[in-house]
Formats: sequence, structure tokens, C-alpha cells
Amino acid sequence: FTGYSNVLQLKETNFTRLCKSKSMMTVNDSFPGPVIRIHRGDLVYVNVHNQDDFGVTIHWHGVKQTRNPWSDGPDHITQCRIQPGTNFTYKVIFGEDQEGTLWWHAHSDWTRASVHGAIVILPAEGTTYPFPKPDGEHLVVIGSWFSGDLNKEFEEFFSNQTFESLLDDNAFTINGEPGDLVPCGRETTDRYLVDYGKTYLLRIVNAVVNVELFFAISEHNLTIVGTDGTYTKPKVISYIMIAPGQTMDVLITTNQSLGHYYMGARRFTTFSENVSFDNMTATAILQYRGNYTPPVVPSFPTNLPTFHDSESGLGFLPLLRSLATPEHPVNVPLNITTRMFITASINLINYTHEGTEISHLGGSLNNITFMDPSSSVLLAYYRHISGVYTTDFPDYPPSFYNFTGDMHTRPMSVVGTKVRVFNYNESVEIVFQGTNLQGQASDHPMHLHGYTFYVVGMGYGVFNNETDPKSFNLVDPSERNTITIPKNGWVALRFLANNPGVWLWHCHIDRHLIWGMDTTFIVKNGETPETSMLPPPAYMPSCAVQSPI
Ligand code: C2O
Ligand code: CU
Repeated sequence: FTGYSNVLQLKETNFTRLCKSKSMMTVNDSFPGPVIRIHRGDLVYVNVHNQDDFGVTIHWHGVKQTRNPWSDGPDHITQCRIQPGTNFTYKVIFGEDQEGTLWWHAHSDWTRASVHGAIVILPAEGTTYPFPKPDGEHLVVIGSWFSGDLNKEFEEFFSNQTFESLLDDNAFTINGEPGDLVPCGRETTDRYLVDYGKTYLLRIVNAVVNVELFFAISEHNLTIVGTDGTYTKPKVISYIMIAPGQTMDVLITTNQSLGHYYMGARRFTTFSENVSFDNMTATAILQYRGNYTPPVVPSFPTNLPTFHDSESGLGFLPLLRSLATPEHPVNVPLNITTRMFITASINLINYTHEGTEISHLGGSLNNITFMDPSSSVLLAYYRHISGVYTTDFPDYPPSFYNFTGDMHTRPMSVVGTKVRVFNYNESVEIVFQGTNLQGQASDHPMHLHGYTFYVVGMGYGVFNNETDPKSFNLVDPSERNTITIPKNGWVALRFLANNPGVWLWHCHIDRHLIWGMDTTFIVKNGETPETSMLPPPAYMPSCAVQSPI
């Protein structure tokens, strides 16, 4: 291990996009925030100073944090917020096999919209990529731009319980810039300068808050070589679909005529076709160096699918395969000891808040709408404090698996802080079933903290427990930390529960997450939490000061 120390300063900074200025929470005054660039096997310390007026936590998305949930970051799950004027040091422990691109982001309310950055994990010294060394590399961090004050709007949203009408992104950005096609964008569009006849590695991060994205480059094919900090078999394609939370490493060859080419990112949605969204495209420019007259307008990627193109969007999902070589082996569990079926849906919840009965849309997993505890699940588990969570997250037997009825009516879900407990080395298979209600149907990119998992199967309609497992890929399934449950479909994944700790599982569409489409896994090892994981750091942010929400 080599030690790296980084300091992240959280504070308000002024930015102007779409011809309008606003102040927002940023890290080190930059949007997106700074890149953490390390080699495989490195250990990283990050000291976060909160000079903003909003409490916040930071999550290292996709980093396994072996036996160290204390530094994982999700608010109310593994820690309480770093309050204004205080600081906290994260010890970021990568899995030994993690290499490629990951990212970090704030994990409190919607603060991650402006507080995020990439993590680049280069091959360990003395080793190299499983593909010819690229001539250069470039980050493509795709983000959301909200014209208003997001944190304020978020608080209003909660106090009014207007759960169905939260503001949408006003634009998407590539490396912080919305690009040529939006008002006042042209001056600052992100550019990547390349030479003819070379190969470049693009590390793409979908850091937007609520939306799956298409990404393409005019006239250039993409060769996908990695995703979520793992390598894949090379896959040549004209566009990618990338869910919030996912990263994708792609190679491009600069073999087109000298010129300027747009890279474009735009929304992909399976949400009701009747809903029209702003079909905005964020652009950046791939610019060849050399002697030529630059075009007035770069060429547009005609290979970029339109936002309702489900065939291109969902068709992309099953394409990726693990590299599966001796250097980058597949460790998919073969003898499953624990099978779970988890339904993901948007339905109605009702509960009493300050004496009034409230009913609104909620997200749920197995019909449980997760309620954040006021303290932290990890702290309660470690210190044997009762009353913070219960361990009765339901397992549904396959016989429950019948969603052929009329889904127009919205069932009520139960609100609770229900977690699922696993024993060490349980060999787990989870089938996620989208049970979306008609009119509310959409994809759900599910993300597991503390692990990667193998995506062994995927399909549409209702999972069939007799026939579908026969087609599972146990040879070179894609290894991920975030995978989309396709609209009205299912996805099956496997992992070995070998990382003791407390780990959040959630839809990475933040709108669904704050609606309660999440749960928590506790992985034990032996009788006491004290012996199964690293001890807490000397200073953890106090859970006594609570956020207003
Ligand atoms: Cu990208 Cu719970 O995280
Ligand atoms: Cu979702």
C-alpha cells in the first residue's frame, strides 16, 4: 500500500450556466470536483472540510471498502453528516482487483448534483492494461445542471410533500459544460484535442441525478473495454447507454478526416411514452490537431439514439461481458446458498406525520419503503443500540412472483427501517423484478455499496423460476456495482457476501432513492461486529445534530 492524502474543501462557489449565475456547493471550487488518480492497490486518505452551510457526507462509489464501512459515506446508513465547520477523514480501501474508473460523490439528499468527481485507478506499477496502451486519455464526467438552488428546493419539496413534482434537470453537462446547443454554452464547451491516427481512452462517468443517458461521438465508434472499475471483453459499438452511477471506459481511434466532432450525451427514458421531456443534448468537441479550416459547426452524432428509443437503450443492457482471463478472473458464485427475490416499484405510501395522515408516491423494495433512521445503522449495529432498525426485510418466495394482475391500482407499501442480515460467505443470488405500475413504469439502476456483483441474467416480463435460470451466464457475466432493472423486466445477479459491514442497496435515480427505493444489508462475520470489521476512526461526525429533514 502507498498512502495518498487528499483534501476536499466543500464550499459555496458561483457558477454561470445557461446565461444565469447561482451559488452552489462545490469541492475545491470546481464542477465537477477534483479527480483522484491512483494505482491499483493504493490506499487513499481524504480529509473533507465542510465550509458550506449544509451538512454532507461523501461516498466512494464502487470502492469495496473492505471491512471498513465507516468510510463508505451514505448519510444515516454508515455515518451522520459532516456538519458545517467540521471535518472528517475517510480511509478509502479499494478491492485488490479494482482497476479502471470509479467516482466519488456526496451522499446526502441531492448534494451529489454538484459534489462529485472521478476516481481513476491505473494498473499497478509494473503491470499494464489488458489492451494496447492508449496514446492519451480523457475524462468525460456527465452531470446535471439545475438553474435553481437545489438544496433549498429539496427542503421545500420535503416540507410540502410535493413528491410528484420535483424539478427536473435544466441541462446536462460534460465536464461541467452543457456545450454548444444551449444558450450561452458555446464559449466554454469542453474540448478534447487529439492527433490523427491514435487511440485514446475515454473514462465516462454518469454523474447525473435522475437520468439514464445515451452517449456517442460523431463518426467514431466506441470500443468498450471496462465498466464500474472492472475490465470487459472489447465491444465495438456506435453508442453507449449508461445509467446514473455507472462508469464506462471506451477506446476511440482517431481515423476520420481532420475536423471537429461532437460528443453528445442525452437522456434515455423508458418512462411513459406520453411524457415529453426536454430532448436536450449536452455536447463536447473532439477536435483534431492539424492544418485545416475548422468547420463552423462540428458534425453531430447521428448515431446518438433519441430519448424514447427503448430498443437502443434496453438493447444495450445485456451486451457487456467480463474479460475473464487469468489476470482478470471471474469469481461468480456457483453454489448458491441464499436466493432472494426483490420487487422494485413506485407505489403509494401512507403514514402519520405530526398528527396528519399523509399519502403520496413512494419507492419500495419488496413493498417496503425504506425510512432513514435518525442515527446511523452502522453505529447502532456496532454499538448494539436497539430501536434504530429492524432485521425483518422480507424474502419473497418465488410463489409470490405473480404480477400478471392489473397493476393500474397502486398498492400501499409499508414504511420502515428494515434491513437484511447475511452471514459471512453466503453465496447470494438476487432476482430483481420491476413491478412498475402502468403509467409509472421506468428503469431502476440498482447500486450495491461495498461489493461488485455478477449480472448472470436479464429479461422482460415476469421472471420465470423454472426456465430463466437455464439461460444464466456463469462463464463471463458482466461485473458491476450498478445495473439497470429494465422497465417491466428483471435482472439476476450473484455475489459472495465476503465483505462484513453495513451496506446500502438502492436505486441510483435519486428521486427514487429519496422516495424510499433502498434497503440495507448487514454482513456479519462471527458473533460480534467488533471482530468482523475495522474499528471506527477516532472521530466520527456526531449524530446528535440532525439535518432539518
Ligand atoms: Cu453512487 Cu449510494 O451511491
Ligand atoms: Cu428507480
